[in-house]
Amino acid sequence: DDFDLVIRGGTVVTAADTARADVGIRDGRIAAVGLDLPGGRRTIDADGLLVMPGGIDSHVHLAQPAFGGPAMADGFESGTRSAIAGGNTTVLPFALQARGTSLREAVAAYHHEADGQSYCDYGFHLIVTDPTPAVLGQELPALVEDGYSSLKVFMTYDDMVLNDRELLEVFDAAGDCGALVMVHCEGYDAIRFMTERLERAGKTAPYYHAVSRPEPVEREAAHRAITHSEITGVPIMIVHVSGREAMEQIRWARGRGLRILGETCAQYVSLTADDLKGLNMDETGGKYVCSPPPRDRESWEAIWNGIATGVFQTFSSDHCPFFFEGPLGKMNPKARTSFRWVPNGIPGVEVRMPILFSEGVVKARISLQEFVALTSTNHARIYGLGGRKGSIAPGHDADIVLWDPERRVTISQEIMHHGADYTPWEGFEVTGWPQATILRGEVVMREGEILGARGSGGFLRRDRSPMAGRARGAFA
Ligand code: URP
Ligand code: ZN
Ligand code: ZN
Ligand code: ZN
Repeated sequence: DDFDLVIRGGTVVTAADTARADVGIRDGRIAAVGLDLPGGRRTIDADGLLVMPGGIDSHVHLAQPAFGGPAMADGFESGTRSAIAGGNTTVLPFALQARGTSLREAVAAYHHEADGQSYCDYGFHLIVTDPTPAVLGQELPALVEDGYSSLKVFMTYDDMVLNDRELLEVFDAAGDCGALVMVHCEGYDAIRFMTERLERAGKTAPYYHAVSRPEPVEREAAHRAITHSEITGVPIMIVHVSGREAMEQIRWARGRGLRILGETCAQYVSLTADDLKGLNMDETGGKYVCSPPPRDRESWEAIWNGIATGVFQTFSSDHCPFFFEGPLGKMNPKARTSFRWVPNGIPGVEVRMPILFSEGVVKARISLQEFVALTSTNHARIYGLGGRKGSIAPGHDADIVLWDPERRVTISQEIMHHGADYTPWEGFEVTGWPQATILRGEVVMREGEILGARGSGGFLRRDRSPMAGRARGAFA
């Protein structure tokens, strides 16, 4: 026999098919998928389990400084530990450019954070906050060539917001060098206006974070980003879409033949703005502060419709963890004075797949194939990892999650592996849970126990996205 490992007797699910098959692994790669493969040096009995591509979470924040605010609760060690516990084998965090510094400096700093620390494979998106001619003309093309083939821009947040001219320049430059542009669509001025009005009225509790950025704020920004995409002829990915309004903009744009991609996240089908009220408009609502904020139950149904009708290609966590307790927690002394100082973001990398499986597959809203596409395959294809990650097919890395579709779990902080001191899904019940995670042929997690070695995850130089580049017939 030639296999190092054979996963025997499971049900193999890819974005295309579901079939009973064995998976033969050699040298960290999938060597064969078929019935009755010969024995390997090791065998895993996967009877009763789904054998799926390891999760790829293309939207996580690790070790990102919050500009004067509290430090993140996860660096690469705890963040990727949490990722593999949740069935993931690859994460794509961000290398954030601080204004006045270069993209190269950002990339070097995040590599320093990640080196030797990661339990799963990782790549970096760039965050462009200072789009000078040198950054866009020289640094960006060189970095894309070096495997940093996507970037994110923000339409809000003081430290990151770009104006329309800057957005256009970034889109244009990305079109020239084939970078895929991710856009955070929320309008800066509208949020500032709403925030100051709420504060004047004494409405400063965490809940008013959600009130200060209602769906029209997201919809307007999505429309504006789509317009910039049309003008430059450069495709964009609208990330963390929270509800119907922004979704309809994507649908409208696609109907016009524009290449607009969409991402949604676990919080937008499982949390609501009411969660930000806490127990009685108290500070526990701060646990749910993220942007865009979660909406309401009708919104969940709209998002499911968008998932079912192909508006969304990827389902991510937007894992962006902060501590809740303590002087550096979400409700730090300054944050108690107004929601505007509560750090934005929630930890979710470990529960992304279980929530989509339970709410999506088990409740018959999506198929198993769609689950795999939304959690792995589409992330690989869109972000330049196609042919290496995201499928169970010969030649691909043996990144696999063995999934128990019947396991019932109540999510709680006690069973989480992240660095944060809470989970927003405390008490949330799911059916379906990762039984084991296999990274390039090695079992790195089994039954919640971390077996992989810190540092066994490696950096991924990504190819250009097949979705990026300038569209034919653009105005530009
Ligand atoms: O609240 C969130 N999502 N914080 C993370 C940063 C971002 O905008 O993705
Ligand atoms: Zn052999
Ligand atoms: Zn964002
Ligand atoms: Zn994010």
